[in-house]
Amino acid sequence: MDRKLIIANWKSHKSEAEALQWLEHYRQQLGAKRHHARVVLSPAFSLLPLVSSFLEDHPLPETVVGVQDISPFPAGAYTGAVSSLNLKGFAVEYALVGHSERRRYFHETHQDVANKVDQALLAGITPVVCLDRDYIEAQANALDGAALAQCVVAYEPLEAIGSGQFEPVAEVISVRDQIRQVFGEVPIIYGGSVSAANVAEYLEVLDGVLVGSASLDAVKFAELLLAGA
Ligand code: PGA
Repeated sequence: MDRKLIIANWKSHKSEAEALQWLEHYRQQLGAKRHHARVVLSPAFSLLPLVSSFLEDHPLPETVVGVQDISPFPAGAYTGAVSSLNLKGFAVEYALVGHSERRRYFHETHQDVANKVDQALLAGITPVVCLDRDYIEAQANALDGAALAQCVVAYEPLEAIGSGQFEPVAEVISVRDQIRQVFGEVPIIYGGSVSAANVAEYLEVLDGVLVGSASLDAVKFAELLLAGA
């Protein structure tokens, strides 16, 4: 992957008005400045129409739409689930799957995550499989071999998420190497308190970053992007 992947994960934050304000501020902030990353904006499902039509009307360089989850089932009688068919038309290119918050609060299993990977791939969406060091192998074992090679893997140490306690790059490198042994040559990104101050270090040794807190403010996120790429 030559462009670094910078994924903004807004989680359950933002009303429609706040999302629009973010997009406008972000666009102003970037202005004519160039960057060498591929930016993925991942809003809540309800904000997808807004974000995707904003990008259609005001294209930003190398900026695409992602989702934070996807149904493990195809379209059908699965109340409350958002299937790949429901996402059609919104130009979704990436789907986070198995974020630790999904595993923790929604009790997602490795098999659920594997099913989500399959659903994303069937729809031509790249799955970004989030995992921590203790279940790299267990998660990989649940995935189909062909699917495995088409994933992006996001290493997200639990204690680093939302805490400001980002993991030192040396440790991230050792986990990156473990992930490579299991997943092969897939793109590997890091998430956990990434900010404008530390992003460049991670991008030196990895294919991208997954950004939560520092993506919520448009100015901060633009700073992070320009610091990294
Ligand atoms: P954080 O979140 O940047 O706030 O640590 C990262 C994530 O949960 O993906």
